[in-house]
Amino acid sequence: MSNTPNNQPYQPQPHDHWAKYYDFVFEYTFGGYYRNLTEGTLQAIQQIVPASTTILDYGAGTGRLTLPLSQYGYQVIAVEKSHGMLEVLKEKAAKAGLSVTPYQGTIAEYQGPKADMALAVFTVIAYILNEEELKTSFQNIYNHLNDGGYFLLETPSRYLFSEQPTNIQESNLVRQVQLTSHHNNLFTYTETCRGTVGNENFAYEDKFQIRYWPSETVMSLLNEIGFNEVTHQFESTTNPLAHTGYQLFQK
Ligand SMILES: C[S@@+](CC[C@H](N)C(=O)[O-])C[C@H]1O[C@@H](n2cnc3c(N)ncnc32)[C@H](O)[C@@H]1O
Repeated sequence: MSNTPNNQPYQPQPHDHWAKYYDFVFEYTFGGYYRNLTEGTLQAIQQIVPASTTILDYGAGTGRLTLPLSQYGYQVIAVEKSHGMLEVLKEKAAKAGLSVTPYQGTIAEYQGPKADMALAVFTVIAYILNEEELKTSFQNIYNHLNDGGYFLLETPSRYLFSEQPTNIQESNLVRQVQLTSHHNNLFTYTETCRGTVGNENFAYEDKFQIRYWPSETVMSLLNEIGFNEVTHQFESTTNPLAHTGYQLFQK
């Protein structure tokens, strides 16, 4: 396994060993909500920056947004700390004949071309466990935006840490997610899953820490760095991004 951008040996990351099943499990778990959210996010991005501009997709996962954006003509840089997730993204891009620039490393570590828009959505910042790293990550996002560039951020709501809407008990997927609360808004996330995709049976367990970030902390860090919140456009009731914690900022 290659070293990280800081030349430290790679440490196993959340999702690494079940990245191959991530799309199946997430599609199955979130269904229509997931597809609407993807559609709404893609539409919002297209209204904010034109195709052919550069987008940095931080915590790109398996490419839920990276791949369609690349298809629409955006130059997408996919920053992802999980080797397993990035490998799946790269395989999907190659299969679809799409040109995407992958970067394996954290948001804070990223060094490379600047972009016109940055994304950090679908619980990405919950994986950042301390305020210093959150601040360094936001600062690095700011540093890698062109002047006037946009930052679409999702701050996961407290609700996501209190409910377990992700438990499934069906014939081809049995999934249990448990969140154990600790001090300082830290949680242990434990997932046990088994299922069948195509003819393949799979089973995995994963356990990692996540953190709830109150929006006041997030806003105060972003303001300190120099981001301006540009719009509350997602608050219309018909917008799929309403009440999702999505906010748009500008450099
Ligand atoms: C739930 S997935 C969401 C993926 C994608 N953003 C989406 O909307 O489908 C969160 C991803 O963020 C990645 N991630 C979390 N913290 C990160 C960080 N500091 N730097 C880079 N990637 C990170 C995780 O490895 C994981 O693949």
